[in-house]
Amino acid sequence: MEEGLLSKRSKYVYNILLEEEGLASNLAEAGKKVVKLNRGDPAVYFKTPKYMIDAYVKALRSNQTYYSRAEGAKTLINAVIKRYKEFYGLALSEDSIITTEGVSEALYFINSSLINTGDMAVIFRPYYNQYMTTLELHGGRPIFADYDERNMWAVDLDALRKSLKSARSNGQIKRVKYMLVTNPNNPTGTVLSRRILSGLADIANEYGIFLISDEIYDEIIFNGAKFTSISEVAKGMPYAILNGASKNFDATGFRIGFIIIPEHDRLSSELKSKMSDYARMRLSVNTPAQYAVAEGISNSKEHAKAIKEMVSEIEKRINSSVRILRENEYLDVVRPNGAFYIFPHIDIKSLKFRNDKGFVEGLLKEKLLQTARGSGFGSPAHFRIVSLATESILTDSMKKINEFCIKHAR
Ligand SMILES: Cc1ncc(COP(=O)(O)O)c(C=O)c1O
Repeated sequence: MEEGLLSKRSKYVYNILLEEEGLASNLAEAGKKVVKLNRGDPAVYFKTPKYMIDAYVKALRSNQTYYSRAEGAKTLINAVIKRYKEFYGLALSEDSIITTEGVSEALYFINSSLINTGDMAVIFRPYYNQYMTTLELHGGRPIFADYDERNMWAVDLDALRKSLKSARSNGQIKRVKYMLVTNPNNPTGTVLSRRILSGLADIANEYGIFLISDEIYDEIIFNGAKFTSISEVAKGMPYAILNGASKNFDATGFRIGFIIIPEHDRLSSELKSKMSDYARMRLSVNTPAQYAVAEGISNSKEHAKAIKEMVSEIEKRINSSVRILRENEYLDVVRPNGAFYIFPHIDIKSLKFRNDKGFVEGLLKEKLLQTARGSGFGSPAHFRIVSLATESILTDSMKKINEFCIKHAR
């Protein structure tokens, strides 16, 4: 075994969000109480709605514990079809939807089916870290486009056009397999405008790039923002939507996601059929969880109540956290209007830290606050705070962040 046991590509497998886990558990073992502001898991703070738990138990009690249809139980697929019709006026057929073990598995399927070694994908920075690891694990490389922090984290369409134009002139464009946008965004909490999304659809169309929109937070919208699904602006062109039960349905541990490919052009049909092969290769997704999510979606009255309560709490928690952080002269914070993250810029030069990693480590050791460094999302000199804990925990934590910065000012 001269080459070593592990594959070369396995070096890309890494989860930045769990990077400080060792240090955090050492602190916990030493009797310290670490506040975890690093994982975007709503089910830790808001209980998964009871009507969904009841549906899960009912599925178990009626022995729905067998392999489901590989692409997803029909009950769930039909619930998703109804949701997209009601929400976005989108007409989906049964074969347009593949159920996955969370969006995480959807990312695997997509990269494994599209990416040959040396192929590329347009990734917007800051990105959800799993986009990069799954792309690189499959031998792909990113073409980065930046969300513009000075412009409320909107996409700079001109800069994107410019980089694709140069990829076209140097012949790389043929290897660009997809463009992946996150709306609302993790880690910035930004909801993209309809104008930006239309611009992205036009650019993807012009360059013949398959457009993917990760809309896993599409109901967690606040501060007066209006959400536009890519399906409202990308009609008639190849595209896919990623979504699931983890965030809107507050059921991260159910592990249910969807790949939705609405159109019937050659690229869309080819990918749909391959996604079905992938689903069949791993037989099934958790069957009782699918029935629970089907009920989660179909019982629109219960869902509307649950999501309204959760989003209004998140809005309060985000806004009060941002208010406190804005008193801090070493941080710049764009106020989020979706998801549940805050992604402050750190004025590293004015603090006694070399980089965001040092900042995040210091915050954990001294103030017992576990956050995630921005460089893990492709944006150094930032850090990500998950704003899901109770308002009193968050208020206390934000004050500690401010004290920490003052203490370490140059
Ligand atoms: C933008 C985004 N996509 C996908 C995921 C993964 O979701 P799932 O639980 O469905 O695998 C997350 C989780 O935080 C996310 O923030």
